[in-house]
Amino acid sequence: MQISDRTIIITGGASGLGAACIRAIVERGGNAVIFDLNQDKGDALVAELGETALFCTVNVIEEQSVRDGIATAKAKFGDIHGLVNCAGTGDAGRTVGRDGAYPLDRFQKIINLNLVGTFNVTRLVAEAMQTNEVNSTDGERGAIVNVASVAAIDGQIGQVAYSASKAGVVGMTLPIARDFGKLGIRINTICPGVFMTELMGMAPQEMIDGLAANAQFPPRLGDPSEFAHMALSLIENTYINGETIRLDAAMRMPPR
Ligand SMILES: NC(=O)c1ccc[n+]([C@@H]2O[C@H](COP(=O)([O-])OP(=O)(O)OC[C@H]3O[C@@H](n4cnc5c(N)ncnc54)[C@H](O)[C@@H]3O)[C@@H](O)[C@H]2O)c1
Repeated sequence: MQISDRTIIITGGASGLGAACIRAIVERGGNAVIFDLNQDKGDALVAELGETALFCTVNVIEEQSVRDGIATAKAKFGDIHGLVNCAGTGDAGRTVGRDGAYPLDRFQKIINLNLVGTFNVTRLVAEAMQTNEVNSTDGERGAIVNVASVAAIDGQIGQVAYSASKAGVVGMTLPIARDFGKLGIRINTICPGVFMTELMGMAPQEMIDGLAANAQFPPRLGDPSEFAHMALSLIENTYINGETIRLDAAMRMPPR
């Protein structure tokens, strides 16, 4: 699927990896829709990028909020062709630590945002996509990209909730691709390594160097534009479906 003249929603698009996708879509002549809770950052990005970007205040874990965002995006741009599920967060804590067992509410909060939120937006955007006009001989109607993490596979000490949530995202990729086959909608998942987002920019150099040492080549953290490049490639290449791809310079995370 081409990016130009297509409309792509990015959850968590106000910041970090999602914001890099928003910039890349607009640069390539597409319409970019930010679904995020951070209105200040979302508005600033739209002011920078202009008319082909749109911010919608959307909470990915609430059905009505996502439905309202889809309606707003459709009213401005028409059919929705793509979705990248970047909204997510982490939490650190051992299953049993110094203060006792990991609090269940914290575990559930991470699963709810990273896994249930990703599923919620995917199912509702795909429901909207299924009535899209078909523009290709293959009958393609839409393409979705999920964002997991290398922690889905090499979870470190203290990453139990985060790793479980991201492994859930990896696990649902193939069954969703199978569910969507007849609809002409593809879905793939990226497992990023460690990227140089704003948050990481505030980390001490020693920590950044330590993380970069886990990469083979290139021996550095990823640039958000490299993530956006992969996400848009997965949208563009019609033959990739149901796949999970590590984007990590052959990084393998040690236990700690
Ligand atoms: N940055 C990395 O190195 C890295 C590595 C591996 C995986 N990831 C994953 O990539 C995704 C993006 O990471 P990032 O570093 O860009 O994060 P970020 O914190 O910069 O951006 C996340 C965005 O999600 C939004 N958000 C949070 N909860 C939301 C909700 N309920 N509804 C709507 N929006 C919500 C936030 O407001 C924020 O703008 C996350 O899922 C993260 O787990 C990031």
